[in-house]
Amino acid sequence: MTAIQIHDEITDDAPVGKAIGKIHASRVPTEVPSYRYVSPEFAALEMQRLWPKVWQLACSVTHVANPGDYFVYNIGKLSVLILRGDDGVIRAFQNVCRHRGNVLCTGAGEGLENIRCLYHRWSWTLDGKLREVPSRKGFGALRNDDFPLFPVAVDTWGPLVFINLDTACEPLADWLEVIPEICDWADFSDYTCAYDLTVPLPCNWKTLIEAFSETYHVQGVHREMLPSCDDVNSVNRLYGRHGSLYQPYGIPSPRLRNGANNQEIWDSIIVTQGARFGRDSTAPGECPDLPEGTSMRELLAELVRDRAAEEGWDATAMTESQLLDLYQFNFFPNITVIIMSDSCTVLRARPGDTPDDAHLDLLHFDRNKSNQPAPEKPIMATLDPDQTDLNLVFNQDVENLKRAQRGLHQPGLEHIVLSREEMRIINLHHQLEEYLGISPSEISEGSYDEIQELRAAGRAEMEPTGFNAPW
Ligand code: FES
Ligand SMILES: [Fe+2]
Repeated sequence: MTAIQIHDEITDDAPVGKAIGKIHASRVPTEVPSYRYVSPEFAALEMQRLWPKVWQLACSVTHVANPGDYFVYNIGKLSVLILRGDDGVIRAFQNVCRHRGNVLCTGAGEGLENIRCLYHRWSWTLDGKLREVPSRKGFGALRNDDFPLFPVAVDTWGPLVFINLDTACEPLADWLEVIPEICDWADFSDYTCAYDLTVPLPCNWKTLIEAFSETYHVQGVHREMLPSCDDVNSVNRLYGRHGSLYQPYGIPSPRLRNGANNQEIWDSIIVTQGARFGRDSTAPGECPDLPEGTSMRELLAELVRDRAAEEGWDATAMTESQLLDLYQFNFFPNITVIIMSDSCTVLRARPGDTPDDAHLDLLHFDRNKSNQPAPEKPIMATLDPDQTDLNLVFNQDVENLKRAQRGLHQPGLEHIVLSREEMRIINLHHQLEEYLGISPSEISEGSYDEIQELRAAGRAEMEPTGFNAPW
């Protein structure tokens, strides 16, 4: 039951906009085999060839804000200990004792002075050097230098800490492609993690992250957004392994045959993202009066600017689009970073115990404000998927994901079918094939060439003068 009724929607004949782009006349739907979402063998291959080889978001910098703070990042059976040393440096290690393989730490905490295994009490310094072995003589000539902790590559982008178990990996700055440059305007280091929530969900990790990697489902799952969101002209792009979406707000979807009046735009945007405009999302009320010649986008951008002035963060140089719109980045393989002027949300999918289970992690970051201190540590919690109530749009995504997996087991469904609008998902599967060594490709013919063209187009937009916004 929705508070907002959508009428006169165009379906089959909805206009083709920037979300899809120019289509080759010969293009056919892209097909990806559905076994990838349900097969234990495929999940085992991912665990063997993907997760130990890629840069992954582990935590926020404030999880390990002070010397002695630590955080354990688990993905499948892999476990990484991230900590800040006495020298202020963030380091990461495989979370394993060199004696008989016990894990060294669990969860997150502070005040670590050394890393001590609780089994037989071997201990290491915070930079990973073995320092103490009870009854050392029993091992014969055991030298500390021979048993350091196994290092893990670690680096940061803004408030995000990334790790890679492959220490011979490319630098994080290269892995991130041009995306940090695109986000320059937002000053990403000016956001602090407020909370870090986990929702266990009954679906594959790809099913999960793919629901945050396309904009096609706005008209299916988030229908209340249609009067205030131009989903048809939400630009999809690829940057190498990664992808992005730009989504404009404050204008109705071209899917609505009769558009939307200002009150309808107002109701839609307040119900779906009221807090950004300082409003109660359950009671949109009357749309404020629009001065002559002012657009709804200008009005809404002004409300964000007013909030920035009240809270004491600098929005003075931001354009209307930067104040109002959504900039989403999909980093292969499993995170989506949504940057807005006032906040940032990171969604991460981690595989669970079976191919039908995953963890959805939501890390929410607020813009640092001068009128209130930033939280020292994020609030951490695991939520019951049947009780999750964060906001309308996220709740809808969670409900949708509860239904998104079982169908993939049905014997008739050998392939899923993907539109150009879902290019970021197609790109994920091509990239996955590279990591897993699947050759020849199992994805329908022709789509790899198209993905290469789209990747080149994404990169070309950076040249020669830097990022050119499409709005
Ligand atoms: S397993 Fe860690 S000290 Fe024995
Ligand atoms: Fe969604």
